[in-house]
Amino acid sequence: MKEKILKSYKAWDLPTRIFHWVNFTTVLLLIFMGLMMLFKKDMGITSLEAKITLKTIHVLIGYVFVLNLAVRIGWGFVGGRYSRWMNIFPGKGYIGELSAYLGSIKAGEPKQYVGHNPLGRLAVAVIMLSLSVMAVTGLVRAGTDIYYPPFGSTFAAQIAAEGVDPATIKPYDKTGTDAEKAKALSAFKGPFGTVHIYTSYFLMFLILLHIFVVVRTEIKEGGGLVSAMITGRKALSKEPEDLNG
Ligand code: HEM
Repeated sequence: MKEKILKSYKAWDLPTRIFHWVNFTTVLLLIFMGLMMLFKKDMGITSLEAKITLKTIHVLIGYVFVLNLAVRIGWGFVGGRYSRWMNIFPGKGYIGELSAYLGSIKAGEPKQYVGHNPLGRLAVAVIMLSLSVMAVTGLVRAGTDIYYPPFGSTFAAQIAAEGVDPATIKPYDKTGTDAEKAKALSAFKGPFGTVHIYTSYFLMFLILLHIFVVVRTEIKEGGGLVSAMITGRKALSKEPEDLNG
């Protein structure tokens, strides 16, 4: 039998909702472009020009993603109560809250929250850290591969041969570069690419898990989780745990 709705609560403020959907859209586009880069040969994309174009489009979408993420990180310090890092990142007393929450699920009487439940807090923390790793490694590779901001001009200056203007150095073109310095930069950028790609696989897994858990929680516990990210309001059938804490 369905439980009766007790009350509707304001959960997510507007900046948090805007962040969520801009992040959702840009991450999907970045994954799509990233997979195109990975499988370009299978798709018959072989020219250097096309390769650079794919990377450039990925980087331009990446800037929107990074800016949105940076605003959200800042908002986590000044924004609405349920969007704040201190209420999301696990801290003092977290293990106790998590085990009480898991216990309530086992007992068939899941505790309800206006903000994230303790498992959701862990998920958001891991997702945010992964997104930050993608942002940092992506920005470094945007600099080393196509000399785009914020690090591109520094990397170009690093590999420019004596007397060459770094602004004239082109992606995937050795003209004007110092062979030794270019080799050193190539060794430096390798690990950033490796972390970028493996974190993107992890993120793809997290996204699927996130969607599965949100839909499952919505069906089992109610609360209108999906529509709450659009309207900002959650409808709960019990007194929430995190209203006065
Ligand atoms: C959630 C966000 C992101 C996802 C899921 C993602 C995904 C990917 C994937 C799958 C690749 C292919 C790797 C390869 O070809 O080896 C890639 C490469 C790349 N990404 Fe991202 N990316 C993200 C964010 C960013 C950002 C923010 C930037 C920069 C502004 C960026 C810049 C690059 C660059 C320059 C490459 C080429 C590196 C290489 O060839 O190894 N990415 N990304």
